[in-house]
Amino acid sequence: MRDEIIILLKKEGKLSDEAIDEIKQVDVHDFANLVKEIGEQETEYINASEISKDLNTRYIGKNLYVFNEVSSTNTVARFLSMHDIEDGSVIISEKQSAARGRSGKSWESPLGGVWLSIVLNPHVDHSKLPLITLATGVAVAKTLEKVGVENPEIKWPNDIMINGKKVCGILTEAIAKFNTIENVIIGVGIDANLDIEEFPEELKAGTTTLEKELGRKGSENLLIKLFLEEFEKISELFDHEGYEEILKEWRKRSYSIGKIVEVREPFNKNYDAYVLGISKEGALVVEKIDGTLAKVISGECIIKN
Ligand code: BTN
Repeated sequence: MRDEIIILLKKEGKLSDEAIDEIKQVDVHDFANLVKEIGEQETEYINASEISKDLNTRYIGKNLYVFNEVSSTNTVARFLSMHDIEDGSVIISEKQSAARGRSGKSWESPLGGVWLSIVLNPHVDHSKLPLITLATGVAVAKTLEKVGVENPEIKWPNDIMINGKKVCGILTEAIAKFNTIENVIIGVGIDANLDIEEFPEELKAGTTTLEKELGRKGSENLLIKLFLEEFEKISELFDHEGYEEILKEWRKRSYSIGKIVEVREPFNKNYDAYVLGISKEGALVVEKIDGTLAKVISGECIIKN
């Protein structure tokens, strides 16, 4: 982890090779403080004071760490989460050089997108992780509604779609001790104002951007502020065990229910199924071709119709 962080510090161009050699010797706590310090930046696209100006939250986003470029905001968030970072802190980067997607995939993160990770210390049972993921999807969908998207939909578990194309992905990573989630890193990537033509060929057809869908560029800072507010509202609902309400909001925007999908679960054979709904734990409930029911907890569901 430290080596990865050193690579990102180097990328920031803030440190000479000699300084980096010295840093390698410093105590890990001081090192974390150094990372935090470097994250106090105003970049071309992301402006922490603009995000904070009218931010109506109690704790989400009260600490913002903004970078020009990191390998992955989730990696930095994970590192800082182990070193006295406040609950609700947010790591934002204008660009990511090695961003991670779900199922071990990489994630395109050029300039013009919103790439951020929130650090939370929820101290809930590990079984609640799928609900945190679904709740984040609802918060993104509500944010997009606020900036004028008419019908954002959520493809299970939490791809946000506009007109059948993906505009946002979410990667939730938990650090658990004895089945209790100590820290959770919620990574969100929104394709806001970027050029899909520069994406790899295989991603172009299934991806869209906010700019394309709304016919105009929007402010990344405003999008981040609105998202942090929606996220706090839904996390408070979560803290008060409003799980049914979260699921209701998710179902209202579901892109998956009523569709035929190919279920791809880790360590299982792929199969086709019809999507009936989601369970109270956040699993996708499907009916297989032979009429039996199954719950999909992790993996992917590729829409076939
Ligand atoms: C997906 O595969 O749909 C999830 C993509 C998650 C991307 C975001 S961008 C910010 C954060 N940092 C990462 O490395 N990944 C997440």
